[in-house]
Amino acid sequence: MRELGTVLIVGRSGPEWAAIAETLSDEYDYRVLTADAVDSALTALSGAHVDIALVEYGSEGKGLKFLVDLRISHPDVLRILALDAKAELGQREMAPAGIYQLIRKPLDAKQIGLMVERGLESRELARRHRLLTREFKIPADPANIHARHSLPLPPESRRFEKLVYVSEKLHDLCEVARKAAKTELPILIQGATGTGKELLARAIHYHSSRRDSPLLVQNCGGMSDELLQSELFGHKRGAFTGAVSDRLGLFRAADRGTVFLDEISEVSPSFQVSLLRFLQEGEVKPLGSDKIVTSDVRILAASNRSLRALVAAGGFRQDLYFRLRGFELEVPPLQDRPDDIPALAEFFAAKHSDAIGRKILGISAAVLEKLVSYDFPGNVRELENEIRRMVSLTEEGEYLTTKHMSPAILAAPPRRLSSAGGYAVQGTTLKEKVESLEKQVVNEVLSRHRWNQSRAANELGLSRVGLANKIKRYSLDETG
Ligand SMILES: Nc1ncnc2c1ncn2[C@@H]1O[C@H](COP(=O)(O)OP(=O)(O)OP(=O)(O)O)[C@@H](O)[C@H]1O
Ligand SMILES: [Mg+2]
Repeated sequence: MRELGTVLIVGRSGPEWAAIAETLSDEYDYRVLTADAVDSALTALSGAHVDIALVEYGSEGKGLKFLVDLRISHPDVLRILALDAKAELGQREMAPAGIYQLIRKPLDAKQIGLMVERGLESRELARRHRLLTREFKIPADPANIHARHSLPLPPESRRFEKLVYVSEKLHDLCEVARKAAKTELPILIQGATGTGKELLARAIHYHSSRRDSPLLVQNCGGMSDELLQSELFGHKRGAFTGAVSDRLGLFRAADRGTVFLDEISEVSPSFQVSLLRFLQEGEVKPLGSDKIVTSDVRILAASNRSLRALVAAGGFRQDLYFRLRGFELEVPPLQDRPDDIPALAEFFAAKHSDAIGRKILGISAAVLEKLVSYDFPGNVRELENEIRRMVSLTEEGEYLTTKHMSPAILAAPPRRLSSAGGYAVQGTTLKEKVESLEKQVVNEVLSRHRWNQSRAANELGLSRVGLANKIKRYSLDETG
């Protein structure tokens, strides 16, 4: 049977309620629990998840009192009160029960069926609205709410959902990400701050079969274990001081969707154990509860510290690391993909001028040249902030020019672009020139592979010993 929801009926047994129970279960496919007194209603509540309660006023208003208690113990249950035809009941008496609908006898099964259906629909909508508000971090800033005309994109740029890029490096990364998105495996996204890890995680979720279910984000940095535990696994009311009501927890709220765990490197060793258990079994045990429930979520995680290095240093569990990296994606820093800079700059200029409703003509060539020369330690975020600032300083109908640039970026020495693919050739004799070039090439490849010598040797077409010799000969070390 398709279970669309559970209805609890609390009323005198008799044909009237029986007809309603039958309609709700046969015509609407609801699961129906019936109780003829408050005691048995409480038993039913403790054993099942109830969505909506239909309660008769009863002798001495016991039913109403039950609804008042229910509002406190199970605030999410929709409450409907049934009154006798001529019963008088004031608003003041009803208010504490937070009643969703009031119905009068004689009861009409069809009408009640429709009411229950609409009630559950609007509750589901409210739930989704809550999730989406959280997901989209609905902005307080009214500029972001304005309808936005389509943003002109730089001609040759490519996109993966909201990621904009032209470089081959990002293209290759997004190709892997598209394929990984279609699987159910966890994905670990690594890279320096501001490189676009979160944007990539979102792109993956919206590119996966879970796109119609929620993507919920949890930043794991700077959180106590207890707080993180209750955020992710939920808690029962009273589980700890301050737990004034039940909390569902992200893992269950995102059922059938995705949970993005940001700054995963920051979780404590004991919390790593809880996460590992969840990844292995899909089981959730809310704090203060002895009931284990399961949840079907896909995990994406991000870190700007290398988990592999952390594992080697003993700061992160190896088994958890292996679990998380169903796929491991590394977003390269912006300075390693300078060809993305002009495309991103134009994209951000269009985005931010549009947001404040100011028409600008474009970006001057001198600005682009400066941007490409700068090394952007804050990566794409820093670039976006710079462009946003420049747009705010530029008048309507002007270009973004170097006079609007911040001093640090303006001061960047020009990137030495020579015929040798961006390396500066030094020395006078051929031997000196070749050696200066060789030193830079080896150094660049090593730092790109974070000094993983076998990968660097592989790319350079050298043996590991050959590479070690070059490192020694040119006195290269990790500090650059
Ligand atoms: N390729 C891109 N295209 C468009 N916008 C981008 C791109 N990469 C990053 N951004 C923007 O740059 C900012 C930083 O991106 P994001 O928050 O995803 O970085 P992050 O890697 O998660 O950073 P951190 O490690 O600091 O959390 C965001 O405003 C994002 O929209
Ligand atoms: Mg981030």
